[in-house]
Amino acid sequence: MKLRFSGHRVLILGGSCELAGKLAERLVVEELRPILACRDERGAQRVLSSLSAIPGRFDTARIDFADRRTISSVFGGIEGGPDFLVDFAQGHMETLIGASDPELVQRYFAENVSFRAEMLRTACRVMLRKKRGRMVFISSAAASRPNAGQGFYAASKLASEALYRNVGLELGSRGITSVILRPGYVDAGRGRKYMRSHAESFTGRMPLGKALSCEEVADAVTFLLSDNARFFNATAITMDGGLTAGK
Ligand SMILES: NC(=O)c1ccc[n+]([C@@H]2O[C@H](COP(=O)([O-])OP(=O)(O)OC[C@H]3O[C@@H](n4cnc5c(N)ncnc54)[C@H](OP(=O)(O)O)[C@@H]3O)[C@@H](O)[C@H]2O)c1
Repeated sequence: MKLRFSGHRVLILGGSCELAGKLAERLVVEELRPILACRDERGAQRVLSSLSAIPGRFDTARIDFADRRTISSVFGGIEGGPDFLVDFAQGHMETLIGASDPELVQRYFAENVSFRAEMLRTACRVMLRKKRGRMVFISSAAASRPNAGQGFYAASKLASEALYRNVGLELGSRGITSVILRPGYVDAGRGRKYMRSHAESFTGRMPLGKALSCEEVADAVTFLLSDNARFFNATAITMDGGLTAGK
């Protein structure tokens, strides 16, 4: 199937993670222009070295979910604004609810929910100006089936899903749509670390016998960005090989 795209510039939040790098490589194949927005210079340097095979085919930008001023700078820095938004950004806080630090809880929700709501408001306004836009939020299968210690993670994903879902509901008729992807365990980032430390409990639990690869997630996100997937709007899709379908 030949994928069709309405637009060119793809703003990727959480641009420093491995999944974002693989997505950028995949988007370049489709002649799209990824803009990988990282929290700091260290992240940007990681992007430059991991994408050294495709120099000049992508940009980097800066967004820190702890600093509201970076919202206007990232959107204002993209001429004409982004046509697409892919949101991988997510802070780390895996802890039992009763054992959590109240200050960290406040900060976690400020960064991962409130900041995201404000960022989305700006993204909507920028996309409304050109009457088109497509957003993909990377949630997690843990939003509906968390492990112990993932209560804050699941809560922030569910709140963020609600925001993205409403964008598609409110603005679909004006050309702006959204979709949520809930991957299961991915061989990258936090998923890889978790699987390595709990290797024994994974054998036999994965219906397809393995975790997702970054390439598989990148292919799915690329499809979801395309016009071919436009009718996946204001909805969440689980991509976990069936892991969360049964007990
Ligand atoms: N790996 C899995 O198994 C799995 C499964 C399901 C869903 N996911 C989702 O996939 C996405 C990527 O996760 P990952 O585990 O693969 O890798 P990760 O390295 O944990 O990715 C998190 C990304 O969010 C960025 N980030 C965190 N706090 C930020 C802040 N305050 N401002 C700006 N950026 C910030 C990180 O930037 P820094 O590099 O600066 O920290 C990094 O780029 C996440 O949304 C995660 O929930 C992952």
